[in-house]
Parts: sequence; structure tokens; C-alpha cells
Amino acid sequence: MYVLNASVPERKPVTVPGLQSMKAQGQRIVMLTAYDASFAWQLEAAGVDVALVGDSLGMVVQGHRSTLPVTLEHMVYHTAAVARGLSATLLVADLPFMADRDTAHLLEASARLVGEAGAAMVKVEGAATHILDGIAALAARAIPVCAHLGLTPQSVHKFGGFRIQGREQSAAEHILAEALAVQAAGADLLVLEGVPTALGQRVTAAVGIPVIGIGAGPHCDGQVLVIHDLLGITPGKRPKFSKDFLAGRDSVAAAIAAYAADVRSGAFPAPEHGFN
Ligand code: KIV
Repeated sequence: MYVLNASVPERKPVTVPGLQSMKAQGQRIVMLTAYDASFAWQLEAAGVDVALVGDSLGMVVQGHRSTLPVTLEHMVYHTAAVARGLSATLLVADLPFMADRDTAHLLEASARLVGEAGAAMVKVEGAATHILDGIAALAARAIPVCAHLGLTPQSVHKFGGFRIQGREQSAAEHILAEALAVQAAGADLLVLEGVPTALGQRVTAAVGIPVIGIGAGPHCDGQVLVIHDLLGITPGKRPKFSKDFLAGRDSVAAAIAAYAADVRSGAFPAPEHGFN
């Protein structure tokens, strides 16, 4: 085993206002999950803009069937590990299931992810009243927030599975209203997951904050994937919205670089990765 080498190419650190400028300039944002320092270093070397320590780690790292068993301790542990591998990439950490049960818990959990583990931004699912209050409380304390709407995995039981959201007109209008509400509450970034391509386009045009899609079509301001899906190592059927970027390439570094290039050029996602 050799020691983690910190000599990655120098680049300007990605910042929260920087993401806003990228949206304004039509520059697509590349986001990817990471759960440990080695993969974080790979993201850094490939010039990924945003690293997400997702609670998807409950599924791809811990082997659970959902993200619900992930605890704050798990998130702090993995976020701190990823932070050690990054220098210029912006680090976002997920608030785990029920960390948002009230504003006091949300603030306490966020303080640990930012102050102790080194995240620059926290991500929270949904737009219920207590979430909007929580986003406003975080914004008032200058903690950047990434909202997450559409197929929010912590609501898997309510949805009856990992199902595409916003297919019916009323559901689409509801998600659009939620996007405007999280923006008004003070969110800086929005992950939009598992919605029809047309809704991804509407939401992206309607809000001023950058929208990062996953299974939300090509019109979003950026894209995010779970790194295990990108590498084609998730067991079972490949999710329709993802692509195996390691196929035909000989290294993890080349796969991540190809993903970043395809997001920036608009080649990914292609129409077959979207939902109508
Ligand atoms: O937990 C996660 O990795 C996520 C992404 C799928 C957006 O929330």
C-alpha cells in the first residue's frame, strides 16, 4: 500500500458563490458521491466540482436496502474521511434520516458535519414546513444548504419504493412549488432526483439557484451520480438514469474524467437516461 499522495493539479477552490456564477454563465456543474479519502482524491484529481457524501453510503457501502439506517455518526465519520482527500472540490454532506426532526437537531447535526467533519454545505430532503424552517435557520447562521426534491430516498416507504416522482400534472406543480419554497427559505443548491425530463427543465428555469439533476434530464445546471453506479459496480440492474463510465476504460481516474467531460459538454445524460 502506498501513502495517499496530495499532489493533485492546482485549481481554484470551488465555492458556493462560484456555483451560482457557473449557473449564470451556463457552465455545467459536475457533482459525484464519495465516501472515503481515496475516492475523494480521485474526484479531486479529475476536477469534479462538488463531492457529495450521500447517505446512499447506507446502500452502496453498508449494504442496506435503503438509506434509513444511516446515522449522524456514520455521516460524520465518512465526511471527515472525504474531507481529508479534497482540496479544491466543494464538499457537501447529507443530513441522515430524522436529523431534520426539528430545527434544534438539524442545527446540531449540521454543526457537526460542517465544524467537526469539514463539509462546506449540508443537504436536506423535502420541503415540509419544518424543513423550510430548518433551511431558514441554517441560512441565518451562514451554513450553506443543498435542498433535495423529487425522488427523495428517505421517503421510500411513503413512495412505495424508489419511484419516479412528478409524473402527474398536479405532482409536477407541487414539486415546482417546493423548489421555489426551498429557494425562498435560503437554499443555495438543489438536487432534483427521479423526475420527468420536462419537469427538470421547468424547475431549472424557474429557480435562480443551481439545480443538480440525477434522473432529471439534461436541462439541469449540473449532474450528480453515485460513484458505484458510474463505475458499474452496483450489483443488479443498472439504474436507467446512470451510465457505466468504466466500461471500455482502464482506470477509475479515466472513468471519472469521462463523466466530468460528458456532463460539461452535455453528452451526459443522453435522452435514454431520462424519464418522460
Ligand atoms: O445520498 C445520495 O447519494 C444522494 C444522491 C443520489 C443525490 O442523495
